[in-house]
Amino acid sequence: MAEKVLLIEDEDRLRRILKLVIEEAGYEIRTAAEGGKGIELWQNWQPHVVLTDLKMQPVDGMAVLRYGVKHHPHTPCIILTAFGTVAKAVDAMKSGAYDFLTKPVDHSQLLDILRNVMAQRSQGNRRDDALIGSSEAMQAVKREIELVASTDSAVLIQGESGTGKELVARAIHAASARSKGPFVRINCASIPSDLLESELFGHCRGAFTGATTDRRGVFVRAHGGVLFLDEIGDLPLALQPKLLHAVEEKEISPVGGSRTQLVSVKILSATNISLEEMVRKKRFRADLFYRLNTMVVTLPPLRDRGEDIRLLAIHFLTRFSSELGRRPPAVSPPVLEILNAYPWPGNVRELRNAMERAALVCTGDVLEPDHLPPSIREPRATCPQSDEACLDLVAREQALLRAALEQCNWNQTRAARKLNITRSALRYRLKKYGIGGSK
Ligand SMILES: Nc1ncnc2c1ncn2[C@@H]1O[C@H](COP(=O)(O)OP(=O)(O)OP(=O)(O)O)[C@@H](O)[C@H]1O
Ligand SMILES: [Mg+2]
Repeated sequence: MAEKVLLIEDEDRLRRILKLVIEEAGYEIRTAAEGGKGIELWQNWQPHVVLTDLKMQPVDGMAVLRYGVKHHPHTPCIILTAFGTVAKAVDAMKSGAYDFLTKPVDHSQLLDILRNVMAQRSQGNRRDDALIGSSEAMQAVKREIELVASTDSAVLIQGESGTGKELVARAIHAASARSKGPFVRINCASIPSDLLESELFGHCRGAFTGATTDRRGVFVRAHGGVLFLDEIGDLPLALQPKLLHAVEEKEISPVGGSRTQLVSVKILSATNISLEEMVRKKRFRADLFYRLNTMVVTLPPLRDRGEDIRLLAIHFLTRFSSELGRRPPAVSPPVLEILNAYPWPGNVRELRNAMERAALVCTGDVLEPDHLPPSIREPRATCPQSDEACLDLVAREQALLRAALEQCNWNQTRAARKLNITRSALRYRLKKYGIGGSK
């Protein structure tokens, strides 16, 4: 089955041309001339990737993006923007867009992005359940997953940022009797607190300004399956009694409604801060804590399971190299030494990011220290970045571009070759980020 692309664009000519280009590349495509129709198609047709213009009437591209981020967070949404309105595109990136293209759209660049997205998608399907690690600690985690999956009790997953809590949550779902039911995740930290109640429990039409229709909350959507409450430590105190009731009684009441509803869900929650500490400081209710914490899986930081570093590095290198259509390079002993000595404050996520970069930068058969990010190679010299900055995709792309350019004395042709992208793709990115004065 061909992969499905949804294109939302109000300029007739551009829409027709891009439709042809995308069709010819072998994708299935549907189009809409404004956001409202686009959202309808997104909902009913379930495309694998969405391309949307920003300025459209009556419903614009930002509304499409907001809809997508909320309802289809795993479907990449790419913004098409008129040249000169890049600031808007940057806002869109911050709101969760996957990438953006400036008009006139460079067809080969568009197809590059689509290929990339689709490759990640097929990789994603295969990798979701793979929990890599053979250390004693990880073997224990795998045994705990089997154990906690065999009951309907709530499970609290603890561990530093980047240790794999979400992966573990998905593994518990997959190993449980509810694996055929939905897995629904809600991130308590990223949803504004005034919207969280309605996200959790749903709302009735007219419950508050803007509630024009009934809406199902995550408890109802997860019915028959697993509800994953991510970053549970950020749940406002005011909402905690209602959540406690829902977890204990398996009964919820939508905001603005008088009737209650029974739901069957297994509750998983995750936190990278100590809930016990929060309970002590009276920022988290003890009764809710004990309820969520019936069973616990604790993920050790990567620095405490050094044996897994090599396995994980090879796993990620293989994955990212194959996405680039390359053979994975061998990991040289000096690289292994560096990886083993580094403290990995960002845990597995940081290692994954480093290997993603390495796979891109290394074009030969052997991975050398030079291919590692300077922050890992010389941790003290360049590590004061905040975690957020390290994890920021845009910042990483910029750093990668700068590193390649510096290594090539700012020769764009050579830098493009090093990054294995076309020169025009490189120039597009430099312009996009205003790197090297080519704004
Ligand atoms: N054991 C593992 N095997 C393979 N991949 C892993 C493993 N642990 C983590 N990862 C990968 O590392 C990245 C971070 O993992 P995940 O998102 O589950 O971390 P987290 O603990 O939820 O972090 P945060 O607290 O920041 O949300 C993901 O890409 C995940 O697939
Ligand atoms: Mg997480």
